[in-house]
Amino acid sequence: MNLVETENLKKFFDSKKGTVKAVNDVSINVIKGETLGVVGESGCGKTTLGRTILKLIKPTSGKIYFDGKDITNLDGEDMRSLRKKMNIVFQDPVSALNPQMTVYDHLNRPLVIHNMVDSEEEKLRRMVDILNTMGLKAEHLIRYPHELSGGQKQRVCIARALCLEPDFLVLDEPTSALDVSVQSKILKLLDRAKRKFKVSYMFISHNINLVRAISDRLGVMYLGKLVEIGDSTDIFNEPKHPYTQALFKSVPQPDPDEKVEAPLTGQVPSPVNPPEGCAFAPRCPRSQSVCERDNPDLIEAYGRKIACHRYK
Ligand SMILES: Nc1ncnc2c1ncn2[C@@H]1O[C@H](COP(=O)(O)OP(=O)(O)OP(=O)(O)O)[C@@H](O)[C@H]1O
Ligand SMILES: [Mg+2]
Repeated sequence: MNLVETENLKKFFDSKKGTVKAVNDVSINVIKGETLGVVGESGCGKTTLGRTILKLIKPTSGKIYFDGKDITNLDGEDMRSLRKKMNIVFQDPVSALNPQMTVYDHLNRPLVIHNMVDSEEEKLRRMVDILNTMGLKAEHLIRYPHELSGGQKQRVCIARALCLEPDFLVLDEPTSALDVSVQSKILKLLDRAKRKFKVSYMFISHNINLVRAISDRLGVMYLGKLVEIGDSTDIFNEPKHPYTQALFKSVPQPDPDEKVEAPLTGQVPSPVNPPEGCAFAPRCPRSQSVCERDNPDLIEAYGRKIACHRYK
């Protein structure tokens, strides 16, 4: 059962150089209860996809469904009540928190705006419960951001995102600004919160090993497009799209016998004038003439979906 689904979603930006095709015809789904990892090189459109799905930015075209309902053109009061159900955690907890506000203030604001609690007692109970789930204590409520470590700040941001009991969270590189030693702790806490609050995640990262640790399914993006999506273990064990293979090859692998075909060479083409055919063709070791002419559709193959002429 899909919690979130997009259909041919596009988000283009106008820039001096031309139209930036940041998200270019993406049909992707997040199943209830899962963590969908989204990977791809810098600039491939991961953040734009997450923000567009949450309607933080307006899609250029295509559809967005949430819990089976078309939310593409939702606004006003309907959109306000939907805001409670979906939220985002950004990469940098320092700029996400107000230095003048305590942890209590940060959690209080959404609870009050959305009328989530009837009494101060209930509010405190809920705040402490969420802080505890994120490995923090009641005493942290009176702390200011500068009194917290980087990891604690990000745990406060996650607690704030969770306090409205959302169904869906976009986690946009939530641990990239933190030390490696803190990252795995946060992943564990996120996993605990997911089970406790029955929330589904879209976990965006360019750190392949982190995504591998947390994802049930994996989506791989290249230049605004989804090129492979399926069960995370399957894709990690046997990446099929030449881009996925190259992407995995370009990071240290836990298993040195991993079958991969070629490391990633050359530059990502510009999203302003993406190539006519497959966007990966100019860098692809398996490119044929058809690849430069036609953009491959995402089709079912090997128990997943792949956009590559090799698998037609
Ligand atoms: N507001 C904007 N105006 C113009 N171009 C934008 C805007 N936001 C994003 N872009 C462009 O859209 C493309 C996708 O950007 P996006 O931030 O979604 O990529 P990303 O995959 O999240 O990258 P990273 O891994 O670096 O965070 C990039 O070329 C970026 O420069
Ligand atoms: Mg990003």
